[in-house]
Amino acid sequence: MTSPNKAAIAEAARLIRAGSLVAFPTETVYGLGANALDAAAVARIFAAKGRPASSPLIVHVASLEAARALAAEWPDAAELLARKFWPGPLTLVLAKKPVIPYIVTADLATVGLRVPANPWALALLKQAQVPIAAPSANRFMHLSPTTAAHVRASLGDSVDYILDGGATQVGIESTVVSLAGSRPLLLRPGMISAAAIEQVIGKIEAAQPLTSADAHPSPGMHARHYSPQTPLVFQIPSQGRGAYLWITRPLEGAHNIKMPADAAGYAAVLYETLHKLDSEKLDWIAVERPPDSPEWAGILDRLTRASGAGPRPAVS
Ligand code: TXA
Ligand code: MG
Repeated sequence: MTSPNKAAIAEAARLIRAGSLVAFPTETVYGLGANALDAAAVARIFAAKGRPASSPLIVHVASLEAARALAAEWPDAAELLARKFWPGPLTLVLAKKPVIPYIVTADLATVGLRVPANPWALALLKQAQVPIAAPSANRFMHLSPTTAAHVRASLGDSVDYILDGGATQVGIESTVVSLAGSRPLLLRPGMISAAAIEQVIGKIEAAQPLTSADAHPSPGMHARHYSPQTPLVFQIPSQGRGAYLWITRPLEGAHNIKMPADAAGYAAVLYETLHKLDSEKLDWIAVERPPDSPEWAGILDRLTRASGAGPRPAVS
């Protein structure tokens, strides 16, 4: 990984403070950032992404203390999880302080907070000295970017500055856990597994699928939220031209792409692989179903949603 370029960080921090949009790398995916305390700047994020105002944004901060300062309540579970997993790919949803504008949280009384484990993101947060609201830096419903080139291709001129810190490390979006209710809820699985979280705070429930498209505690859970343009399937179609992402064995006669056999390695290259295949204008991308074990849950979730077969109805 390249170490942060001082001049680039200074420029990005200046732009954030001036109310502009800056795309920056986190360890998961690139984020499209704005000053989280500036409602007008945050409104630009929604416009640039074509994202509905009903989808809340994650607020990124430089430290546990900075996160605590934005939460109206800080339960023991938050302290334990933050100490164990921050900086890292875990977002904690907590009651928000009034200083966070409602546009950030899509009118919810809660806010998603995380300290990212990427030196570029941390340097930017420290220098900007404000919390940064940032969804993934892609147009709504598209595949998340793991390189600066992906951001440029998806958002073009609608972003003021792209901080290029190379490819991201984790490769899929953070695990999202709500601690705002009476019991901890897993809102979005990720590479910090439910099992790893349970070792720290005990039993955690998976969020119940909703049947309504508008009342969503976690909009990232909609089916097809994480899709390439090319249809993604688990069964090889008998017709057309496609590619097969395999883990245990290739298929005879297919355009085979070998994927890492460990979950962390697989996640790290998944979106890059899908972005690349998307540009080949194939008829389909077929995927070998990964193991049904806790460390693969985040990957299986994204693949299932990308296939349009998620547990929630698709939004259009
Ligand atoms: O890894 C990540 O989480 C990346 C990087 C940039 O940090 N960000 C990301 O943001 O994936 P986005 O906007 O694509 O997904 C944010 C998800 C939402 O879909 C929702 O599930 C959850 O975070 N979220 C944020 N605030 C929430 C809140 N107040 N209540 C419930 N869920 C919330
Ligand atoms: Mg996203």
